[in-house]
Amino acid sequence: MSIEVEKNIYQFPKDFWWGSASSATQMEGFSGADGKGKNIWDHWYETEPNRFHQGIGPDKTSLFYTNFIDDIPLMKETGHNSFRFSISWSRLFPKGRGEMNPKAIDFYNSVIDTLLENGIEPFVNLYHFDMPMAMQEEGGWESRSVVDAYVEYASACFENFGDRVMKWFTHNEPIVPVECGYLYGHHYPAFCDFGKAVQVGFHSVLASAKAINAYHEKELGGKIGIILNVTPSYPRSNHPADVDAAEKSDLLFNRSFLDPSVKGTFPEKLIEMLRVENFLPEYLTEDLDIIRDNTVDLLGINYYQPRRVKAKENIPNPNAPFLPERYFDHYDMPGKKVNLYRGWEIYEKGVYDILKNIQENYGNIECFISESGMGVEAEERFKDESGMIQDDYRITFYEDHLKWIHQALNEGVNVKGFHVWTFMDNWSWLNSYKNRYGLVEVDLTKNFRRTIKKSGIWYKRLSENNGF
Ligand code: NOJ
Repeated sequence: MSIEVEKNIYQFPKDFWWGSASSATQMEGFSGADGKGKNIWDHWYETEPNRFHQGIGPDKTSLFYTNFIDDIPLMKETGHNSFRFSISWSRLFPKGRGEMNPKAIDFYNSVIDTLLENGIEPFVNLYHFDMPMAMQEEGGWESRSVVDAYVEYASACFENFGDRVMKWFTHNEPIVPVECGYLYGHHYPAFCDFGKAVQVGFHSVLASAKAINAYHEKELGGKIGIILNVTPSYPRSNHPADVDAAEKSDLLFNRSFLDPSVKGTFPEKLIEMLRVENFLPEYLTEDLDIIRDNTVDLLGINYYQPRRVKAKENIPNPNAPFLPERYFDHYDMPGKKVNLYRGWEIYEKGVYDILKNIQENYGNIECFISESGMGVEAEERFKDESGMIQDDYRITFYEDHLKWIHQALNEGVNVKGFHVWTFMDNWSWLNSYKNRYGLVEVDLTKNFRRTIKKSGIWYKRLSENNGF
């Protein structure tokens, strides 16, 4: 009898999902071409180009729209068995609803078919920060009519692509438009208004539940979930005020989406906090039934860095005086690790803490790490003589996270895969191409030429060996 010796120290289960994540605005390019309507990013770039790093906007981003035929085999070469992309709502429906753009249907059909031909499972996300401009003019996520338009759009996607796509996601990081677009003014429409932020958050949850309902009604045989950046909140100290701030932060920025998406209800403490402060959103009773009855089949978790929180010491934010404060000065504390090439904290155990939380408090729902990544500035400085970026720091970063995911697996967490951000260097919201994240380099000075980085070769080995 032969004994099978596992060659890896960290062996992952059979059929583990290895791949990467992306989004339409960040990699398609051709934002004004082939009938695509404008979204908020196109509009913002047109009206305020200086907001974007080096004035580079979403019009040319990585040119996946024309290069996907070559890019997809490169995904295969870097070990992908799955790939997440988003559909551009305004490419499919230039006005947000109504007439569909046939060229968009052709494009996404070709992407899906090419992925499948290459043995890569398409994971499709419906909303990744890219509100069609026509919908924003109706109020964006503040408006109920936009929720209905989104459900029409989602249904059209299920009808056209649902025969081949078996993993769907309603939103990517829906708390980001809430925070960046309505609370801190970083993304369009750049409001700083807590009341609007709560309404936008509620409608995003409602839209997700309605899309899940539409998907399940069609009985297409796949699964539908949501992708959340579940960010563990750690208090600065054991002082009750800090502990309370961390709990509030968890309620506002994690559980506001996690609970309704997985359990179908909002946390009582969150409702109470908003009620006391007079910030409950407008809603209909039937909305709560829809949310209760349409929870996700699986959960994607994006994790980059934790949220370190302390009680508010500064002048309260007039929009929301109770908002907990995030701090960054712990970077200088002993024992804390920082990404020296970008500045974000590196805390690998955070991924384990999130997974254990999902296991213990969210019914151990099927989940996967849908984004993990390390952004690096001026990465060309790490090229060797052959021209390949030697990104050993990224390999270490991934391995250190995977060790914790492996630990969670050993303890019974229902985690099914690991997707990196991202396959090839792409455009980031406002930062453009400043921080590079890809397994594959994109050289803007050489007509967006693609070159595999050392991490791309490592990723292929990881996926082939199903561990390391
Ligand atoms: C999360 C988002 O989904 C993606 O759009 C973004 O570019 C990456 N994080 C990197 O910050």
